[in-house]
Amino acid sequence: MTEKADYEELKSQLHSHNYRYHVLDEPLISDSEFDKLLNQLKTMEAEHSDWVSPDSPSQRAGAQPLDKFDKVQHPAPILSLANAFGAEDTLAWFERIKKLDERVASAKFIVEPKIDGLSVILHYRDGLFVKGASRGNGEVGEDITVNLRTIGAIPLRIPIQKSPSTGLRPPSYLVIRGEVFIEIKDFDILNKKLEEAGAKTYLNPRNTAAGSLRQLDPSLTASRPLTLLLYQIVHSEGGQVPSSQWEVLEYLKALGFPVTDVARRFDELESAITYTQSFQTKRDELAYETDGIVIKIDDLELAADLGIVGKDPRGAIAYKFPSREVTTKLEDIRINVGRTGVVTPYAVLEPVQIGGVIVERATLHNFDFIAEKDIRINDRVLVKRAGEVIPYVIGPLKDARSGDEKPYQLPKTCPACKQPLEHFDGEVAWYCVNAACPEQLVRNVEHFVSRGAMDIVGLGIKIVEQLVAEGIVKDVADLFTLKKEQLLGLEGFAEKKADNLLVSIQQANSQSLNRLLSALGIRGVGQVMAFDLTRHYPNLQALSTATVEDLQEIEGVGPNIAEAIVEWFARPANKNILAKLKSSGVWPIATTTAEDQSVGSLSGLTFVVTGTLEYFSRDEIKEFIQSNGGKLIGSVSKKTSYLVLGKNPGSKLDKARQTGVKVLNEEELRNLAA
Ligand code: IVH
Repeated sequence: MTEKADYEELKSQLHSHNYRYHVLDEPLISDSEFDKLLNQLKTMEAEHSDWVSPDSPSQRAGAQPLDKFDKVQHPAPILSLANAFGAEDTLAWFERIKKLDERVASAKFIVEPKIDGLSVILHYRDGLFVKGASRGNGEVGEDITVNLRTIGAIPLRIPIQKSPSTGLRPPSYLVIRGEVFIEIKDFDILNKKLEEAGAKTYLNPRNTAAGSLRQLDPSLTASRPLTLLLYQIVHSEGGQVPSSQWEVLEYLKALGFPVTDVARRFDELESAITYTQSFQTKRDELAYETDGIVIKIDDLELAADLGIVGKDPRGAIAYKFPSREVTTKLEDIRINVGRTGVVTPYAVLEPVQIGGVIVERATLHNFDFIAEKDIRINDRVLVKRAGEVIPYVIGPLKDARSGDEKPYQLPKTCPACKQPLEHFDGEVAWYCVNAACPEQLVRNVEHFVSRGAMDIVGLGIKIVEQLVAEGIVKDVADLFTLKKEQLLGLEGFAEKKADNLLVSIQQANSQSLNRLLSALGIRGVGQVMAFDLTRHYPNLQALSTATVEDLQEIEGVGPNIAEAIVEWFARPANKNILAKLKSSGVWPIATTTAEDQSVGSLSGLTFVVTGTLEYFSRDEIKEFIQSNGGKLIGSVSKKTSYLVLGKNPGSKLDKARQTGVKVLNEEELRNLAA
């Protein structure tokens, strides 16, 4: 083989490895092996500079910075999309276009994710990537070829494999369109790296991708984890291209372009809408951010014949999902005092709608976060609310500052008890270490009475706050000596309400030892740990005399938890709580001991769990069942002993009903184990 042939072979290998890595996500070699091959190629090119062509893998990075971007006239208008906000809007769109063309009534529809990125237009001449542009105003964009070359997922030459099975003669000139973006995980890694280097972090993947493409120095673009997906043929000359959107996606894929793998084709619009709605609930499972689904008429000739309104083609529509990021004014930063005394800052916001919910508060994580992001009171801030997570502040929009913004000062004292706040070496958190802090007490009582703990019905947070503020409850044990007259003295309390509350407190007297123990809020002692402890210590007196060494004998109890338990029982205030509980008769004795458990009360039984549990995490319930001798398995069969039912159960419930498997809730499971 001649040296030139070796060079071509190496180049082709590199193209193939690049494609496997960036497009298929199935690499055959490691990054360092790839770099080695690339270096071999570069060495050959250093000797034969005339061999270097624009499709050489060496040409992705390393171009000189530009002074400005040249303009590019797009070969056809780069259109936008009309929006639909829900099924009704989408059906209205269908009705409108049905009137314009009778073929619409029987049209097929393609649904594709609407990627939250930037549109780019790629030009290929005789299979070579020759030009790449931004959308610009839709007629003229900017020439960002050097930046786009740095994106590994863009093939520098097509077809990437020698004989694609498109069945079509590839055009000599092909212009296609896609969306450049950053995957969520890559964005998080990028931000983490920047944070570790003490550099400024980015707000969100989309802005970062946009900023990266706008760099005049391509080496900056190369340092950002950009990728893309292609979805449209804008223009072609001298060849054949498909006539349906479904085939376009397949065709682009066959040429070696990255194409979405969640596109679907439907025979009716209704099914496309149903799919879109179910997709919406799963949007967080995608690797990148989407702001909706694009529903497109599959027949491209029909779509083109339907024409354009302004910049929006009639043949497609964007079914938008509610936005999850909004900007609003940060009116104040306040502090929450937790059960353990940890103080955490939160944002008081000018009320704003996010995804159909009014948001007025958002977490600011911790004080370091405020300092790192330089978040100031009166800033406009970007706030996100996604899925089930508590809304959180992403960061300030520094360009929107007017000069009225006030830097935040960490308070020196606890807002509730005015005692100094403390900070421990090596920890991010700040603490109010005052054991008598009323706010901590409110949180403690709130936890004590909660459903997963002593389950005192009717004792909501407002009443807890009243009881603490009036000095009626100074610790959790005071709940059991509450008098009716004391309650009647509180705002909003009449006879009946007071009686009801006293009855439910009375009922809590007989809660089990493991509930009482987890209700006390000892660090690290949740329900499962409490249960394990009660198997070794039959009452609180016994546990209070255990040493760190004793406790560590129990499986699952490490030195930190053991110390936290010993420390808790050593504190005079807590000794006092125990004495008061005992004299009120709140002194449960464990019903099962380690000896009884040697076989386990659930021994021989198999369990399946469905739905979202209220008290246990999945790991906790597994541990709970196993520690009681039972077995947790994945699917229901005739042999299953019980199905444990959480909220929003899945198909396992139907299966249990069909096969006659008994169904339990969490409480019943605990009773079964007790
Ligand atoms: S189709 C005629 N498909 O959304 C073709 N657009 O709000 C019109 N976008 O400007 C575009 N994912 O930048 C199409 N799968 C997808 C898309 C998509 C994201 C963007 C695109 C467009 C914007 C319209």
